[in-house]
Amino acid sequence: MTTQAYRASILHFPEHSLSPKQDCVYFEDGLLVTRNGKIECVGEYKNHINQYAEAIFYDYSGKLLLPGFIDSHLHFPQTEMLASFGEQLLDWLTDYTFPVERKFADPEYASYIAKIFIKQLHRHGTTTGMVYSSVHKQAADALFQEAANHNMLLIAGKVCMDRHCPDWLQDTPQSAQQDSAALIEKWHNNGRLKYAITPRFAPTSSAEQLHALGELAQQYPDVFIQTHLSENHKEIAWVKELFPQRKNYLDVYDHYGLLRKGAVFGHGIHLEQAEWQRLQETQASIAFCPTSNLFLGSGLFDLAKAEQQNVPVMLATDVGGGTSFSMLKTMGEAYKVCQLKGNQMDPMHGLYLMTQGAAVGLGLENEIGNLNPGTDADFVILDPEFDELSTLRFKQQRSPQDIIFALSMLADDRAILATYIAGTAVYQRHTQTLKGAH
Ligand code: GUN
Ligand code: ZN
Repeated sequence: MTTQAYRASILHFPEHSLSPKQDCVYFEDGLLVTRNGKIECVGEYKNHINQYAEAIFYDYSGKLLLPGFIDSHLHFPQTEMLASFGEQLLDWLTDYTFPVERKFADPEYASYIAKIFIKQLHRHGTTTGMVYSSVHKQAADALFQEAANHNMLLIAGKVCMDRHCPDWLQDTPQSAQQDSAALIEKWHNNGRLKYAITPRFAPTSSAEQLHALGELAQQYPDVFIQTHLSENHKEIAWVKELFPQRKNYLDVYDHYGLLRKGAVFGHGIHLEQAEWQRLQETQASIAFCPTSNLFLGSGLFDLAKAEQQNVPVMLATDVGGGTSFSMLKTMGEAYKVCQLKGNQMDPMHGLYLMTQGAAVGLGLENEIGNLNPGTDADFVILDPEFDELSTLRFKQQRSPQDIIFALSMLADDRAILATYIAGTAVYQRHTQTLKGAH
């Protein structure tokens, strides 16, 4: 592979930041150089361009180059059921989610949707996802295969559930353990792919299944873990009924050895103090999914509290409970949730939670999340002036903070000019040409 050099306004967080507003690095006229899929150099254009006279040159002057976005919680089989009307979590699962996930018993259908799903990630600037597949082992194979075709760093897992869902979607404690183990052996650290042990949530796993998955987690200490936690009041009451011996919802997972760094818990909206404390002690993360939390009427996540408690947080879409694949839009909705909680989320903080902050929470900051030399060349080019209104808006102000904030309110995939994975363009926006127009 050749050396490639990109001129653009460049923004990233090189460190594990405690104050993203201060710690972002911005080169208004910057240069990013990639070689063999890795980042070789990042800095001021004028300081570095002479060293790279031989490189293939891409001029994105006036555009913004950021690390690729990380979506830390979403459901691949729910791609086609985005925006289904009217229910809150438990009815929504029964009425919409389970019937759709049934279709993934067919590996050909799973492959067909995997292609659409991965394309949607790329057109929205997302280069890494932490993804729930369906209960079917072969659907997970289809997803991993499609991610491998694009050399993506994707984390995914087969959903495990052996009760309180239709019997045509159930596995067993034994099959969940065996199928997950086979998928780990096949895909974990195969190229850039990673595996996450994925019990759907406490109500749909028996104690025996959670025990079997805890054993697996112990056997494979470097695999990720993902599940849902404290999203909806009815769900929480149900968990209390199902596991009366446990202190709280998180304690169910803790008891079975499913709580550790690298475990990502979706939502965490209604946590008790003891749960915040255990998350802090273990440095497990919460995926904050604002479009989903608003859409399903689940509640308002307390980002300020999470920060105060030193619990790692990442931003996520939660497609299809979430309503958009766009991490920019997701950040905009996170800002509004914080407003309703009486707090302001700084745009640099929001951007951090979908790039470097997510990578740090996952322990992957040497691979993704920033533009440091030696990391994988996953990045996105944004076009702030993507339509008439944004062009007008950005005449007024051009600070990076303002651009990121306004894009989080106004933009979506229309602002994504190109997405690069391991140094290769996987998506480029085509400017439409109107036939016959001059
Ligand atoms: N809890 C259990 N399963 C799901 C799911 O698919 N989506 C959301 N948002 N919450 C869940
Ligand atoms: Zn979810």
